Amino acid sequence: MSTRYYTASSLDGFIADPEATLAWLTSRAIDTDGPMGYTELIAGVGAVVMGSTTYEWVVEHEDGRWPYDIPSWVLTHRELPTVEGDVRFSAGPVAQVHAEMTEAAAGGDLWVVGGGDVAGQFADAGLLDEVWVSYAPVALGSGAPLLPRHLELHLLEVARNGDFACARWEVVR
Ligand SMILES: NC(=O)c1ccc[n+]([C@@H]2O[C@H](COP(=O)([O-])OP(=O)(O)OC[C@H]3O[C@@H](n4cnc5c(N)ncnc54)[C@H](OP(=O)(O)O)[C@@H]3O)[C@@H](O)[C@H]2O)c1
Repeated sequence: MSTRYYTASSLDGFIADPEATLAWLTSRAIDTDGPMGYTELIAGVGAVVMGSTTYEWVVEHEDGRWPYDIPSWVLTHRELPTVEGDVRFSAGPVAQVHAEMTEAAAGGDLWVVGGGDVAGQFADAGLLDEVWVSYAPVALGSGAPLLPRHLELHLLEVARNGDFACARWEVVR
């Protein structure tokens, strides 16, 4: 079982632009079945976690349909609109969320969807094992940061997938 932060990023380390639009990302070619693609990632995942901004974005862009059929956690201090699906709201701490996810995932991997600070909270708690990033061929200049922490990483894999430069690292503890 591994806890993985898997995301796409601009070359300069932003996972969303200041307007929270994703055209800079979705306009690029990628093979979801290709190297380090979504299919490879999701196959072993038993639970997901994300911050409330990402949750609100997903709900808005999926027309209220929850895209994951596995237990999902949303970190928030607020009352958020609910969706159909196994979505659990929590105010952390992430160590407790991680324990609940591990139990629910029944041996599967845990996917930290984002944002960057949420991944950082798991790293702070010593609970982040791997970072997978697909870099789009664009610099954004500003936006939501990929991973706003000092973390030491060990490179495990690199690949090209369509327009993306993909890499996978393990977190050095
Ligand atoms: N490029 C990609 O593939 C990708 C992937 C994921 C996300 N995104 C985008 O990137 C952006 C991420 O934005 P972000 O990093 O600012 O936000 P985020 O991580 O999605 O959400 C941050 C919010 O989650 C809540 N939160 C975080 N940790 C918490 C904790 N331990 N306990 C309770 N609540 C907690 C807080 O809000 P409240 O307490 O006020 O609710 C916090 O402001 C979004 O626009 C998203 O759509 C892109």
